[in-house]
Amino acid sequence: MEFECILVETKEKVGLITLNRPKALNALNDQVMNELGVALKAFDQNDAIQCIVITGSQKAFAAGADIAAMANYTFMDAYKGDYITRNWETIRQIRKPVIAAVAGYALGGGCELAMMCDFIIAADNAKFGQPEVKLGTLPGAGGTQRLPRAISKAKAMDMCLTARMMDAEEAERAGLVSRIVPVDMLLEEALSAANTIASMSLPIIMMIKESVNRAYETTLSEGVHFERRLFHSSFGTEDQKEGMKAFLEKRTPEFKNQ
Ligand code: HXC
Repeated sequence: MEFECILVETKEKVGLITLNRPKALNALNDQVMNELGVALKAFDQNDAIQCIVITGSQKAFAAGADIAAMANYTFMDAYKGDYITRNWETIRQIRKPVIAAVAGYALGGGCELAMMCDFIIAADNAKFGQPEVKLGTLPGAGGTQRLPRAISKAKAMDMCLTARMMDAEEAERAGLVSRIVPVDMLLEEALSAANTIASMSLPIIMMIKESVNRAYETTLSEGVHFERRLFHSSFGTEDQKEGMKAFLEKRTPEFKNQ
């Protein structure tokens, strides 16, 4: 498929997707979200790819859903046609890790997209916000749900009700992002993290992603039970044998993703 709104590259075992609608600060319209979904699925199915990075420009990761595209929607367009959110959840089907490398604005749907990724690496100029309240609407792709889980109810309420933006420092303090780097180093840092992940055993990486995500969906007892089952399963892999053998032999493991 030819992409018009995103750039898709591979960097060794890492799939890199760059949102590319600079004139609209990467506003997320139907076409962007369709293309993103197609690219994500293709990387997920590609055995040569082990980790995915989504990024934007230095000015904007994404300034939100496309306001011009949705301004005249009726309730029936939004509800029955599900025009605004119908292709936003593809990312949740992706089993390989997805890192958001965020510089500049991550607002509204842009902040929500970043939070749908497995973790966020922020440039020092990153700004996160849920300004939908100023448009007479509310977050529609998980902002009111993922923010309280990520940064506490108090900060989530503050952001969603007042529309104030959170800078990178505050976002790291609050737990929304895992690391902050100078904006010029963002891609390098994200690719380095992705390469580290890509050097591990892919099935184990997938199990870890599944297990951490389960923490958001279940009780502690059930989550620990789920983790225990996956932990036991890891002993059925060749990579566990190789990983532990390599440690004992004081050498780097050679994982075969088996
Ligand atoms: C459509 C957008 C846009 C958006 C920016 N643009 N954000 N177009 N949808 N979300 C366009 C502008 O219209 C403008 O186009 C160009 O990008 C540059 O933007 P400026 O405003 O001129 O830039 P600047 O002054 O630097 O301000 C940057 C900004 C501001 C603070 C990010 O653009 C802004 O507040 N954007 C809207 C942010 C927002 O409300 N997001 C939430 C959207 S609702 P022209 O043609 O004039 O040059 C949402 C719901 C999610 O996300 C629901 C989930 C599905």
